[in-house]
Amino acid sequence: MKQATDFTQMKALGEKIAMVTAYDFPQAKLAEKAGVDLLLVGDSLGMVVLGYESTVPVTLDDMIHHTKAVKRGAKDTFIVTDLPFMTYHISKEVAMKSAAALMQEAGAHAVKVEGGGEVIALIKDLTAAGVPVMAHLGLTPQTAGVLGGYKVQGKTAEAASQLLEEAIKCQEAGAFAIVLECIPKQLATVVSSSINIPTIGIGAGSGTDGQVLVYHDLVTYGVDRVPKFVKKYGDVNKVVEDSIRRYVDEVKACSFPEEKHSFSMNEKELTSLYG
Ligand code: KIV
Ligand code: NA
Repeated sequence: MKQATDFTQMKALGEKIAMVTAYDFPQAKLAEKAGVDLLLVGDSLGMVVLGYESTVPVTLDDMIHHTKAVKRGAKDTFIVTDLPFMTYHISKEVAMKSAAALMQEAGAHAVKVEGGGEVIALIKDLTAAGVPVMAHLGLTPQTAGVLGGYKVQGKTAEAASQLLEEAIKCQEAGAFAIVLECIPKQLATVVSSSINIPTIGIGAGSGTDGQVLVYHDLVTYGVDRVPKFVKKYGDVNKVVEDSIRRYVDEVKACSFPEEKHSFSMNEKELTSLYG
């Protein structure tokens, strides 16, 4: 299994990092089999699995529950779990306890926190306590309410240089990687070449050291419209819908189950059953 430091090594060697989210046992099992480098139990769970409008309602218990399932499915894969909304801003103590729960109770190998300036001190404290931290800059969905929705970030020279500065600060604080979400490809390239820890992009172009996509977007499962930066590699919606529709039709038409799906009892038992 890869360790947090192996990803820095991959960057140094120019080997791209492929990350995908996972939220349950079968998803984790298939992603591990397909050869991902690491898994993210993202709080996008709130939207794609639990049906919320945003990631804000997701709780620490939700993240623990789903991380445990992912762990059971992908025993040999490095697992990062998101610290959800308001579990790391109240106080250092609350943040440390939240991270401890994700690692000790749920079994995550690392945690992810959103934001720059406001979480730098926390990244330092967590790292010092032995928690590998993945940072997350650019579009940070937990603060979409403050950012004014889900918009591309870092488009002005000022915003871009602030993001670059924050990325450097995340590295200095000890983060082992940084997710860059929805920023111009040029900015992502500059950030990636300015730091030694790997950048993992989503909607950040091809100049990052790795990529991440939300599982349900990648395979088109339960989602309809997907953002511009997603490539649909499969159509699980169609497979699942078609399968269930055929099942319903066959039940109604009495063509399922067939003989081969049924069990029998022997003649003697049958006779005594009917008396
Ligand atoms: O929750 C999530 O899925 C994420 C990724 C999009 C980086 O944070
Ligand atoms: Na997230």
